[in-house]
Amino acid sequence: ASQSEEKDLVIIGGGVAGYVAAIKAGQEGLKVTCIEKRGALGGTCLNVGCIPSKSLLNNSHLYHQILHDTKGRGIEVGDVKLNLEGMMKAKETSVSGLTKGIEFLFKKNGVEYIKGTGSFINEHEIKVALNEGGETSVKGKNIIIATGSEATPFPGLEIDEKRVITSTGALSLEKVPEKLIVIGGGIIGLEMGSVWSRLGAKVTVVEFLNQIGGPGMDTEISKQAQKLLKKQGVEFKLGTKVVSGDASGETIKLEVDSAKGGKPETLDADVVLVAIGRRPYTSGLGLENAGLEVDERGRVVIDSEYRTKASHIRCIGDVTFGPMLAHKAEEEAVAAIEYIKKGYGHVNYGVIPSVMYTHPEVAWVGQNEQELKAQNIPYKVGTFPFSANSRAKTNLDTDGLVKMLADPETDRLLGCHIIGPNAGEMIAEATLALEYGASTEDIARTCHAHPTLAEAFKEAAMATYSKAIHF
Ligand code: FAD
Ligand code: NAI
Repeated sequence: ASQSEEKDLVIIGGGVAGYVAAIKAGQEGLKVTCIEKRGALGGTCLNVGCIPSKSLLNNSHLYHQILHDTKGRGIEVGDVKLNLEGMMKAKETSVSGLTKGIEFLFKKNGVEYIKGTGSFINEHEIKVALNEGGETSVKGKNIIIATGSEATPFPGLEIDEKRVITSTGALSLEKVPEKLIVIGGGIIGLEMGSVWSRLGAKVTVVEFLNQIGGPGMDTEISKQAQKLLKKQGVEFKLGTKVVSGDASGETIKLEVDSAKGGKPETLDADVVLVAIGRRPYTSGLGLENAGLEVDERGRVVIDSEYRTKASHIRCIGDVTFGPMLAHKAEEEAVAAIEYIKKGYGHVNYGVIPSVMYTHPEVAWVGQNEQELKAQNIPYKVGTFPFSANSRAKTNLDTDGLVKMLADPETDRLLGCHIIGPNAGEMIAEATLALEYGASTEDIARTCHAHPTLAEAFKEAAMATYSKAIHF
């Protein structure tokens, strides 16, 4: 069967990029259809990404804290036990509540939702293999590709999501592994490594680069993060490359090589988490039938208005350029609909925050110190440690600092890097400041409530051009 009516907009993919575009289009009065094959809306983020990982991070932190951090708080606890099944259930409850919420928002905004796999027949027509069986096709005046990304596999190690896992397997292991090796010390490796380490696994992170957290993380902050994670029991092998793996025996063997030459070593593990990055997902999409191109990294090629070679087909989110982040996908979704409806839209790619939800959290926005140095951009630094912040002290949670980078002439904020309790919430303030082109003096002259962690933010700003009061 085919739907003869041409829609104003057809969206392939119901992840953050796709579902936000669909809702926004509905609000703008467009006739919109969203095709999603997963059987649930919300994509990677809601189903196997941001949301389930944060559920496990939050609850594993609570468990770990109850085990190790009640002394000195006047709390005596007895027999603390992990109920992994219960923890997974809590995660599933959060996920299903949110994915169903999006289905509700689709209805509210008049979005048609087709459960199935979409592929281009030609520039205007999409065939859908329905999840329930059978086929249909839809036509769109405008089309948005929002098919997201998938984990990059490690050659020679077949993913079974039980012993050799990606983040998806790491979100639903049935028991705590004794030894977990994480290949890749990026955000996934550190978040999921933290979860299983807190729950009792001996975790070793093998990272090719000399710093954890990926290149966006400020080196000074990254070193602090590594130190604090090590204190929690996570082992690191930096400057070390996993060259091959063998999962045929009882334990999994990994051959690792020092990036600088050194002698090769064999590591063994019960479970190996492959977290070496994600790649755009366009498999089976039939891009060639619409004459569309991908670059050497598989990203769908677009212009500054998200248009592919065919100007009525746009592309947003993980499947195209830019950081693979849910909030970036969301911004692009709104901008893409504005381009379609009004002819203009806007995303400020210089002001996209990043957050790593370990404990403490690490969050940053704007440029880091190594980037400024590499570009010969002059800057000055202001820092403030949470150990001098009254709220952090009352919370007995004082690890970390706020670091601000500012223009030496104008005090204009260039970047902000935070490691500490609630850094992920606090970074919103830096993001707003950066978006508005604030100076650190503007920030420091803004009254902040006492006692709050945010006072550390204000004092770091003060430290860029004067002295912090409490340090
Ligand atoms: P996706 O969410 O991948 O959605 C694409 C959707 O398209 C999928 O549901 C897929 O089934 C569907 N699809 C693909 N092809 C077809 C087709 N042919 N027909 C129909 N449907 C199709 N980001 C953050 O900002 N914060 C976080 O805390 C965070 N945590 C993460 C944790 C993990 C473990 C992972 C893996 C990722 C995390 N991310 C996080 C990244 C975030 O999930 C992605 O940036 C975001 O999901 C991208 O949205 P998207 O819509 O572009 O793609
Ligand atoms: P990543 O790109 O952040 O990190 C991968 C790391 O693996 C890099 O540091 C790289 O040097 C290393 N590596 C690659 N090959 C290696 C090898 N053979 N041996 C040793 N190390 C090797 O990718 P990751 O962590 O898989 O995450 C993918 C994306 O998902 C992130 O870029 C991020 O956009 C998104 N994400 C965001 C989260 C958040 O916002 N909190 C949480 C989780 C994921």
